[in-house]
Amino acid sequence: MGIFQLKNEQRLVLETKETAYVIDIHKHGHLQHVYWGEKLPETADYEALQSIVFSPSSFEATRGVMGYDYIPWGEMVYTEPTLKASSASGERGFKWEYAGLDIAAEDSGKQQVVIKLQDSLGRYQVDVTYDVFRQDDIIARSQTITNIKGEALYIEAARSMQVSLPPASWYNLSHLAGKWVGEFQLIQEEIREGRKTIDSRRGNTSHHANPWFAIDQGAGEDSGDVWFGHLAYSGNWDLHVEKDAHGFIHVCGGINDFDFMKVLQPGESFPTPVFYLGYTSKGFTGMSHQAHRFQRKHIMPEPHREAERKVLYNSWEATYFDVSEENQKALADEAATIGCERFVVDDGWFGKRNSDQSSLGDWEVNQDKFPNGLDPLISYVKEKGMDFGIWLEPEMVNKDSRLFQEHPEWVYHFATKDQTTARNQLVLQFGREDVRTYVKNMLDKLLGSSDISFIKWDMNRSLSEVGRIGAGVGEQKQLWHEHVEGLYDVFDYIKNAYPHVLVETCSGGGGRIDLGVLQRTDQFWTSDNTDARDRLSIQRGCSYAYHQKTMMCWVTDSPNWLNQRTVPLKYRFHSAMMGGLGIGGNLHEWTKEEKEEAAHWITFYKHIRPVIQEGLAYRLTATHPKKETEIMQYVREDGSRSVVFLLENGLSFGPHPVQVKVKGLDENARYYSSDGTTATGAFWMNHGLIWPLNEEYQCEIIELSKVED
Ligand code: GLA
Repeated sequence: MGIFQLKNEQRLVLETKETAYVIDIHKHGHLQHVYWGEKLPETADYEALQSIVFSPSSFEATRGVMGYDYIPWGEMVYTEPTLKASSASGERGFKWEYAGLDIAAEDSGKQQVVIKLQDSLGRYQVDVTYDVFRQDDIIARSQTITNIKGEALYIEAARSMQVSLPPASWYNLSHLAGKWVGEFQLIQEEIREGRKTIDSRRGNTSHHANPWFAIDQGAGEDSGDVWFGHLAYSGNWDLHVEKDAHGFIHVCGGINDFDFMKVLQPGESFPTPVFYLGYTSKGFTGMSHQAHRFQRKHIMPEPHREAERKVLYNSWEATYFDVSEENQKALADEAATIGCERFVVDDGWFGKRNSDQSSLGDWEVNQDKFPNGLDPLISYVKEKGMDFGIWLEPEMVNKDSRLFQEHPEWVYHFATKDQTTARNQLVLQFGREDVRTYVKNMLDKLLGSSDISFIKWDMNRSLSEVGRIGAGVGEQKQLWHEHVEGLYDVFDYIKNAYPHVLVETCSGGGGRIDLGVLQRTDQFWTSDNTDARDRLSIQRGCSYAYHQKTMMCWVTDSPNWLNQRTVPLKYRFHSAMMGGLGIGGNLHEWTKEEKEEAAHWITFYKHIRPVIQEGLAYRLTATHPKKETEIMQYVREDGSRSVVFLLENGLSFGPHPVQVKVKGLDENARYYSSDGTTATGAFWMNHGLIWPLNEEYQCEIIELSKVED
């Protein structure tokens, strides 16, 4: 039935194909969260849902302890608020009142309902917005705050969503933690009394945490209740998960209120980023599939959404800053011979950049390294049948650059304090129009005059001393958010002006990966950690939240630069073939046999690529107690083809067999396995493969193909 109201329009029901989300709207501006779970069969069921309100003592909330869906700050409620604002003259804690709702017609698979709250004097309005993606079982939440006619409104916190789960015996929280070269480590823990905050205060999404969560009640991969959410935002964000004294779980998240302020003058509005929420009873695999399908359909931008991700070669680990027309051409020869489809020149091609000490900001081609500009190299790469791509880091500047000499005022800085340089660089105020115009002109020059169809957009430090001389404190606290808006503006500019250009987001590896950036870029560099074994847990963690088509994985040299680990080439390939494949090693140093082997795996990758990039991912070892194997499976949605990756991951106590029951096949159809057996889908899913696990770095890829009648 979609979106409907019950109980004299006090109750709002949002139904998707399989789920329902129910809110009670109270006149005084509180939205009470009543239900979020399986869709219920009858309207009477929704009428009968109990809105728990619990008033144990005078030490608790005025209107009782309850589940919240929207909670403005300023009364006797103690959870993290969805909105905290005051007026210029010091009026705090407005008297909010319900002012009606609008339900729009369904458009492009989405139906919107907006609940309006107004302060009692009609000066300020909040639009609490729910976009219901019915077919995808996703509800997108945000709010827009408007100053209709009041004095300036100082917004101190404006989160995208608030939701509560009712008291129950236990809940678990899953989230992703990490660091540079160690992103996406899955953390799972029981939610105990108190408040847990995960966040970024660094100006980017951060390597350390990711704006994704899942809450479950003992779910496994295949079954169990999971509530999950992704925030589409690439700056300072926070997520609070609180278990109150009575067992309610309150979840609230959006832009971090750390050093945040938004000042709204009369007539101005402030829309928050969007938090995408979902529920499934089908466990963590069901959760990932729901989120991944949604990303494929509604997040990944056109026009590259459907296009296969090409096998790329990136020269960073081969030549570092020492790039030249000659050595890049030589690498392009090698890359084309083994089957690469895109050649990317990384850092070092511009200014006088021979190390990380100089030239960020001076985006002119280095004439010593490329005497005739980039075009001879680009033509060479194109003649070899590859696309050409280039590395950029436009938000940054080195002190040793012409740009910094000309515009020292363009970087973030405080009045009397020295700026902190990190990797010898400072950050440009991307909220400034003049800065963005400079960057857009640079992009026009580069993309408008040369045949460049790929950008790796990097960001190699966190923000600090986020200030602007001459600006008031309130204005300066807006700079963090303005940086993100500025970044999105430039990404949107590229998408509009140069739609053929595919953009890879990178921030020292996986420092800026979220649905906000993925609405404007096409893929991400997952981690600077290119060790094939470390990558397994990084990629598995990433699979909980993000679609494998957007996740780039490279095969690089061995021993690996990061940990000196020596890993066979076959294993390095298998590890990197579980996403978008790239080659990042120094091919000149690979033996003839290694290059032949690489060519073999690249050809094979192209054959299985439609299954990996378009298929559904199953983590077959996610719950395996010993984790001595990494087994991932990809299945085409129609069940016609599947690919199973088996990688030894820490074998101990000698050889032994492992049973691998696959998933997602048509049980009555027959499947031919690349190891020679033909049997029913039921056979493969119930008996499966028996994998003799014998030795360190053993790995296999098994293909299962439906036998057509
Ligand atoms: C970052 C990226 C690397 C590489 C270097 C270049 O660390 O993650 O892949 O592009 O910058 O300086």
